Amino acid sequence: MYYIGIDLGGTNIAAGIVDEEGKLVRKGSVPTRAEREADEVIKDMASLCRNLLDEEGLTLSDVAYAGIATPGIADHDTGVVVYANNLRFSNYPLAAKLKEFLGIEKVYIENDANAAAKGEAACGAAKGYKNSVMITLGTGLGGGIIINGEVYSGFNYAGAELGHVVIEVDGLQCTCGRRGCWEAYSSATGLINMTKAKLGETNDTIMHDMVKADGKVSGRTAFDAMRKGDKAGQEVVDKYIYYLAMGIVNMINIFQPEVFVIGGGICNEKNYLTDPLMKIIDKEQYSRDSSKRTQIRIAELGNDAGIIGAAMLGK
Ligand code: BGC
Repeated sequence: MYYIGIDLGGTNIAAGIVDEEGKLVRKGSVPTRAEREADEVIKDMASLCRNLLDEEGLTLSDVAYAGIATPGIADHDTGVVVYANNLRFSNYPLAAKLKEFLGIEKVYIENDANAAAKGEAACGAAKGYKNSVMITLGTGLGGGIIINGEVYSGFNYAGAELGHVVIEVDGLQCTCGRRGCWEAYSSATGLINMTKAKLGETNDTIMHDMVKADGKVSGRTAFDAMRKGDKAGQEVVDKYIYYLAMGIVNMINIFQPEVFVIGGGICNEKNYLTDPLMKIIDKEQYSRDSSKRTQIRIAELGNDAGIIGAAMLGK
């Protein structure tokens, strides 16, 4: 038997076919184009799944179920996404729609960051630990909490929304309607917006030329500029890492998990991200004098965490 795992992101829909051993045998992606009606997005999701099955020489009868990792409040009991700030989902019957468009019988849904946290706890950076917290830094900032081996998401599946904890009172506008959410500062979108703001403030930076050459501002722009000795790039990176560290320390002070996992493309910056981050975390956390401190780890499943976590939802 095989399982389909789908990671529905604000930018891309990624899907994969996973075998009984949890191995990803084939994966692919298509752009989400989140401004469209939800049904259109799910029709594309269904075609992506169909294509992957064809390419692998499989049919739906080889598949036990599909699992979808989605942003927002994913009600497991009804298969409905109650609300998602980064997609046009409001009480959207996601599981029922994929069943209809793909013609599959069983579909499970879970919040994307919860699924990623579950994947990392089962076979990634938090493997072997009972308590872990994970954040995913992408279009949004997702949070997943594992307590005693189980995902904790509150009585209504709306918990662990770590990105919507206010880190700056009356700060930047967040897509959820609040101001100053951690997500507005520390998601990949937050980093891009910080970079754009800096470009608007000064001409004295090589980032203008880099953006011209790349055709866009990306999450890498400021880090690449910093590595070339650019002062404005360095300032953006410092500010980004400062807010990220403050949020992580807040979470450590609440949960004191054995492992805190960070996922998302920004982790490709490796030590340029983690060295300065750890300096602040070590200085600020309440447990700084304790010999037992939370280990900060980079996600091991990388961009596949959501797919693999989703494929495990029915187990
Ligand atoms: C949403 C979360 C989601 C995260 C990552 C946030 O904006 O509120 O539900 O997990 O983005 O996609």
